[in-house]
Amino acid sequence: MRPVLMRHALPRPVRQLVQRLYEDAKIRLALRTLRAAPPGYIPSADVIARLHRAWGNAGWAARSEYLDTMLSYAAQTAGPIVECGSGVTTFLLAAVAGRRAVEVVSLEHEPEWRDRVVRNLGGLPARVVLAPLRHGVDFDWYDSHDVPRGIALVICDGPPESTRGGRYGLLPILGSHLADSATILFDDANTDSGRLVLDKWTAHGWHVKRHGTFAIVSVGEPRHGAPPQRLSRVR
Ligand SMILES: C[S@@+](CC[C@H](N)C(=O)[O-])C[C@H]1O[C@@H](n2cnc3c(N)ncnc32)[C@H](O)[C@@H]1O
Repeated sequence: MRPVLMRHALPRPVRQLVQRLYEDAKIRLALRTLRAAPPGYIPSADVIARLHRAWGNAGWAARSEYLDTMLSYAAQTAGPIVECGSGVTTFLLAAVAGRRAVEVVSLEHEPEWRDRVVRNLGGLPARVVLAPLRHGVDFDWYDSHDVPRGIALVICDGPPESTRGGRYGLLPILGSHLADSATILFDDANTDSGRLVLDKWTAHGWHVKRHGTFAIVSVGEPRHGAPPQRLSRVR
């Protein structure tokens, strides 16, 4: 019986529990292909779309061009990878990089959001760290000491746009944890907040290449040539 049919039959807490179990079951089903694929494979657009539908967070989840770029990098980096803002991207990073024994750490400030990601990972290798947003003088940023050093790749899709200072805090707080050749995939590069942050990072000496709604930021000299290419797709 679908949860919607039980709207008036059960007390609210029970309905919420059933709803949650139902949603989690859909997510785990969608994750099955990712788990079954050999490590290093990049999931097809179909597999990603299925996961997105199951996750059901259309307005907040990363767009496909950003995801494609993220997957190309994640499939080839030696890591570690740090993600700012968990969600569908966390499952994909865990499947494509975590299963190649690359360390994947995701920072998440919302306890309930973190719980939802963690309980659905089902053994996919990623660490989702609860990191509340801490007030700084000019900006807020994730409060966590649980971040690796020598980070090769940052998936910067959080904290939310409305955060004070936007995503600027990555530079002063995580800057010293980044490898010299680190790449930051910055989503929402075309918003007022995103533009401001990227301008400040550029003034600091980071190299920003814009690609519509996202940007590829190189901490050191940008490598010449095309970004890493797609390896292979799994259906
Ligand atoms: C842009 S979302 C990150 C999404 C994630 N990278 C993905 O693609 O699925 C940034 C943050 O917004 C918060 N968030 C995500 N979905 C939300 C929602 N539906 N309502 C409120 N906050 C949400 C979470 O704390 C998340 O870390």
